[in-house]
Amino acid sequence: MNHWICPSILAADFSRLGEEVQAVLDAGADTIHFDVMDNHYVPNLSIGPLVLNALRKAGCDAIVDVHLMIKPVDRLIGDFLDAGADYITIHPESTEHLHSSLTQIREGGAKAGIVFNPATPLDALSEVIDLIDLVLIMSVNPGFGGQSFIPSSLSKLRQARALIDASGHDIRLQIDGGIKPANIGDAAIAGADAFVAGTAIFGQASYAEVISALRSNIADAIGS
Ligand code: DX5
Ligand code: ZN
Repeated sequence: MNHWICPSILAADFSRLGEEVQAVLDAGADTIHFDVMDNHYVPNLSIGPLVLNALRKAGCDAIVDVHLMIKPVDRLIGDFLDAGADYITIHPESTEHLHSSLTQIREGGAKAGIVFNPATPLDALSEVIDLIDLVLIMSVNPGFGGQSFIPSSLSKLRQARALIDASGHDIRLQIDGGIKPANIGDAAIAGADAFVAGTAIFGQASYAEVISALRSNIADAIGS
């Protein structure tokens, strides 16, 4: 299994966003994690499709996984499809009709993801498992970078891993919030295969060194 490191550009220097994206890609990032916040579903405001469109126009051809923390979500899904999202991940609480929103993402040509907050049970997962390409487990409450990892997320990762494996589908299991070199191994053991990290990467002098530390701690933990 190849493990993805997904730097969250929420922690990047936005005055030099294009350079920051290129720098983490050069340092070995597998996707660019693009956090979208609306000051309604979450108490913070970030970036929209215009910014993704600008990165694409500037030549960014990396996998971009868009994490939508916006409500209602449906109308903006089309804008992110048009802007060039590869994955679009949505919270079940942000749509009245989860099945329909996930279908909209896939029919628009992107991969669909579902994300569970720390207090949201995985109930909906088995109902939509045929419609998704990624499950994201939040290990902080969404809205801000730089928060501490919530340890109970590990048992939720294990539950999600069991459901994914039982489905037989090719579905990524991503973890988001408070991931650092010190805890990434625990998340890998619990079944994650994609790891969002914002402040742990963009706060460092060398992106290559921290991405390599993240990868080697995964390898040490799972014994590969
Ligand atoms: C939180 C976002 C995260 C966040 C991660 O709502 O979804 O992607 O930026 O940041 P760190 O890694 O600093 O917790
Ligand atoms: Zn995120």
